[in-house]
Amino acid sequence: MVNLLGEDNKDIKTEIKKIGVLTSGGDAPGMNAAIRAVVRTGQYHNVQVIGIRKGYNGLINGEIKEMYSKDVSNVMNLGGTILHTARCPEMMTEEGVDKAAAIYKILGLDALVVIGGDGSFRGMESLAERGVNCVGIPATIDLDMNSTEYTIGFDTAVNTGMDALNKLRDTSSSHERCSVVEVMGRDAGYIAIWCAMVGGAEDVMFPEEKGNIDDAKVIQQILANRSIGKRHNLIVVAEGVGGTQKLAQKIQEITGIQTRATILGHLQRGGSPTAVDRMHASMMGYHAVKAILAGEKNKVVAYNRGRYEILDLKEAMQMEKHIDREIYDVIKILAI
Ligand code: F6P
Repeated sequence: MVNLLGEDNKDIKTEIKKIGVLTSGGDAPGMNAAIRAVVRTGQYHNVQVIGIRKGYNGLINGEIKEMYSKDVSNVMNLGGTILHTARCPEMMTEEGVDKAAAIYKILGLDALVVIGGDGSFRGMESLAERGVNCVGIPATIDLDMNSTEYTIGFDTAVNTGMDALNKLRDTSSSHERCSVVEVMGRDAGYIAIWCAMVGGAEDVMFPEEKGNIDDAKVIQQILANRSIGKRHNLIVVAEGVGGTQKLAQKIQEITGIQTRATILGHLQRGGSPTAVDRMHASMMGYHAVKAILAGEKNKVVAYNRGRYEILDLKEAMQMEKHIDREIYDVIKILAI
């Protein structure tokens, strides 16, 4: 592990002349701030930066554009990604990866910065085996990347979820209803438990906690809360648990409480990034380029225990991370 914090040295001696940057997989708020940091740190060190459109697709098809400082003006505040993104099934094939690696060489790139989630990092592993020097920046709203405590986009997605819960609370309390809200997160429950906590939900169902995926327990909680005078209920369900509409129907049938289901879906992927996302994206973009300039090969940027780190790609992909169950315990205590 290399800690690259410390003074920036503009006169750093480096063989690096040209790097590529792409965003891949699901977009995440803050990706633009990361692109901006990569382009401007590169330019600061006289490195040519090539923007690659639509993730690995653009690499395979040679959809590229040289990027200068002015190309990333006024993008910090924008959600989505100015480079566009895609999920790329071709990268699951030998031919696709061969082609991507061949284009990297034809373009004369010294390194490729990949801004994306786990699937995108797996693509980096395949490219690394073919001599491509990849450096990854973790970006997914799901927070489900094992090597890092933070992934770009998470904070904005949680804030969007919190905002939705605030609004649903208004209407649920006016009608004395129960509201069941499904949040994104694929197979992970990080967004769900954070939204439940900061939105003041009474219960949350998330995939990692098998024991809580029990409709009967949720219904018991709702009834217990009604019996002590609560007039509305907010329940959060993670996408990885699903069945939100059915759960709402069941709650209504069993309790007689009018219940509505809301699925936030892709709403949580958009929006102007929060300050937290802009900060991590800017710092991670900077550290990715610094790592490349320092001669690092096949690395990922991570944020752990309050510091930015540069980890070996292979090791990062084998790391484990566990959801903080204490958050769930506290949600339950505060739900009374
Ligand atoms: O990984 C981010 C994410 O938004 C997940 O939360 C969700 O399951 C998935 O992407 C949706 O993917 P797509 O936009 O391809 O439908």
